[in-house]
Amino acid sequence: MDAVLSNEILLQAVNEFGSPLYVYDDQRIRDQYGKLVSAFHRSDVRFFYACKALTNVNILKIMHELGSGIDCVSINEVKLAIRAGVEPDKIIFTPNGVGLAEYLEATALNVHINIDNLDLLQQFGRHFGSAYPVIIRLNPHIMAGGNIKIATGHVDSKFGISIDQIDQIIAIAKQTGVKVKGLHLHTGSEIKEVDVFIKGLELILELTHHFPDLTVVDLGGGFKVPYKSEEKGTDMQLLGEKMAETFAVFKQKTGRMFQVWFEPGKFLVSECGYFLVKANILKQAPSRTFVGVDSGFNHLIRPMFYDAYHKITNISNPSGGLCTYNIVGNICETDTFAWDRELNVVRANDILLFNNAGAYGFEMSSRFNSRCRPAEVLVKNGRLKLIRRRETFDDVIAGQVID
Ligand code: LLP
Repeated sequence: MDAVLSNEILLQAVNEFGSPLYVYDDQRIRDQYGKLVSAFHRSDVRFFYACKALTNVNILKIMHELGSGIDCVSINEVKLAIRAGVEPDKIIFTPNGVGLAEYLEATALNVHINIDNLDLLQQFGRHFGSAYPVIIRLNPHIMAGGNIKIATGHVDSKFGISIDQIDQIIAIAKQTGVKVKGLHLHTGSEIKEVDVFIKGLELILELTHHFPDLTVVDLGGGFKVPYKSEEKGTDMQLLGEKMAETFAVFKQKTGRMFQVWFEPGKFLVSECGYFLVKANILKQAPSRTFVGVDSGFNHLIRPMFYDAYHKITNISNPSGGLCTYNIVGNICETDTFAWDRELNVVRANDILLFNNAGAYGFEMSSRFNSRCRPAEVLVKNGRLKLIRRRETFDDVIAGQVID
């Protein structure tokens, strides 16, 4: 059984730090990392936590302590990783659509560079020649992922350089001297099927003969974790085995071997995260009973943005009778966390718990409606530690230039 935090400690966290509140379980992050290490022990792998899922420096420090590198999509994420003590060799810069200037900031910090368009490859190659070997993000033309908004490897996606444009990559490399040390793809998020990853790997392996300097194959992130009780995540052990077999066959055929990099986000931090809100009001409308909570899609946007399901429980009344509710936020829009959800009877001031809130929860929060962002707390060895203070009105007005 995977470790979960008890209702007692979560209620204690709300008592101490107020609501709404994000709480993260240090142990669960460690357990998830352990699962990765065990699943891929037969291969030469490195993991780079995709920190866009949750960038609190305290979380990045845990990843670093575990031996993980960090995958970053913006220069500020790179700076956060460095602030957490991560060495440049353990940081990949994998942005999309940024200009040369941001790449130059990243190269000045000596991190691994991942390039996802031909134009930029040319500019980069002209600037550095062979002096700064790069990883190339390919678009494998594979449709996969939990929903279209998080599918990134299909032919219509803005990400990566199409595998059909490989000749152009080779031509630019020849013309500018730029060295390709790695090939990368990231097909999407919440991919359950092991074969999607294997297909991506096989696609890349077929292209490796074009690149004599290649040492790395980066298969991105996107492992599925269960959001509903009856759901299953990606079978990591099976993936680890199939991957090792695919590599063994390849090595036998070609004599070449590569290090494999992965960039998991959700897998490492989704399940460690708990989001706690308070029921402010109950509204009995003719067709529905609404529970209005002290939060909204400004704090957890996934249900409204992706129709994502998050398990919700009333931890203040765990043995109450069951009732059906619409759980709604306070943002002045249709701000619904869950439609027709069965919960133990909810009373004003009860605390509701959202599961799987670690990945893309706080990280995608905003100050919409001029509301403050929640605090974040880390639970380690049964102790609660505030790792981000709750915002106040001063944060809301900070940065405004007022005469
Ligand atoms: N590597 C790259 C290049 C990525 O773009 C992403 C995620 C990852 C790794 C990590 O993917 P993960 O293991 O977390 O699935 N906000 C959405 C998810 C968007 C993922 C974007 N890219 C959500 O809340 O479902």
